[in-house]
Amino acid sequence: MKVLALNSSARTGDVSKTEIMVDHLAMGMREAGAEVEIINLKKVKIKYCTGCFTCWTKTPGACIHHDDMTNDIYPKFVKCDLCVLATPLYHYTVNAQMKAFIERTLPTNQPFFVECGGVTGHPDRFELPSMVVLSVAGFPELSVFDQLRSYVNFLYRDRLVAEIYRPSAEGLKVPTNDPGINDILEATIQGGRELATSKKVSPETLNRIQKETNNFEDFTLLGNLAWKTCIAEGVTMGEFQKKEMTPRPDSVETFLILMKHGFNAEKALDAKVKIQFNFTGQIEGTCFFDIKNGTINASPGVLENSDLTIDSPFEIWMDILTRKVDGAEMFMQGKYSVEGNIELLMNMHRFFGKNSGNVELTT
Ligand SMILES: Cc1cc2nc3c(=O)[nH]c(=O)nc-3n(C[C@H](O)[C@H](O)[C@H](O)COP(=O)(O)O)c2cc1C
Repeated sequence: MKVLALNSSARTGDVSKTEIMVDHLAMGMREAGAEVEIINLKKVKIKYCTGCFTCWTKTPGACIHHDDMTNDIYPKFVKCDLCVLATPLYHYTVNAQMKAFIERTLPTNQPFFVECGGVTGHPDRFELPSMVVLSVAGFPELSVFDQLRSYVNFLYRDRLVAEIYRPSAEGLKVPTNDPGINDILEATIQGGRELATSKKVSPETLNRIQKETNNFEDFTLLGNLAWKTCIAEGVTMGEFQKKEMTPRPDSVETFLILMKHGFNAEKALDAKVKIQFNFTGQIEGTCFFDIKNGTINASPGVLENSDLTIDSPFEIWMDILTRKVDGAEMFMQGKYSVEGNIELLMNMHRFFGKNSGNVELTT
């Protein structure tokens, strides 16, 4: 099977979630024997359709433009067996680069009016490839793709063999030790294998790829913390992700949510520890972590018999958490104090940092 995958993301590399997804899909397709070419539309020149209809009249099937679309992409598109349109969701639909490509496929149609699925349409000039639409979005609800879904189903009808949509995609990263992200990526590879063998993606695989978070409230809280941190630090979201920065909590509540989501259950399997925090300064409050058998209870309040008690100004601890200052140095300078198991203080970081505090995508 010959597959042409068109990636219209405006970003490249690991910060591009479209690229991560299309690469994994292609990996599965190639494994199953398909010949896959990925073209990054950001790197090619596709002029806008001028609406002249020359491709329907004076030169049937041929566009007036002489650019990468005419010379390279269009001939590959009409010859492939399967075409994957991989686009970030921009304003609830395909982005501009992808729309420019779609509009430039006008020469594949003939001008005549025909009845097509109960409405008027233009007939295809020749047999066209099966289509797959792959899209990623920032928002967490799968319903964010409803408008795109409606558009591509109307546009491609029976030729559309699969739609793959990944919400809350900004949390995707490679490599990762987050089991939720790993399952999405493995399922995407599996989706590629299925497409290459049967031109379909099974509902089981699709459910794994498209699984929504079941904690929309934490997604919003942590997402907003990440944006606030970007603004405060003067970095873009891409830079924030590349530097693996930690969102800076602005309350005891958001500190607890962040730590709960960064908890690394695997690393804490044999641990049985209780850690108490007493925060002072602009943001005052008490909270604790009760860690046992790979689980964490992160709650406000005071815990009896804690193994370690940390008394710290809130801002100092947040500086340590976000790696603005060194925890050991702050301790030496007496910026915070501890009581109990000092070794635990030194090793505490190993229980956290699973995903730098990103809310898990699926759990
Ligand atoms: C101009 C613009 C419009 C966007 N519109 C939406 C949107 O309507 N819904 C949504 O969930 N995310 C939206 N996003 C977020 C992107 O879909 C998300 O960041 C995605 O990961 C981008 O793909 P990329 O990682 O390949 O760049 C938008 C982003 C930009 C830059």
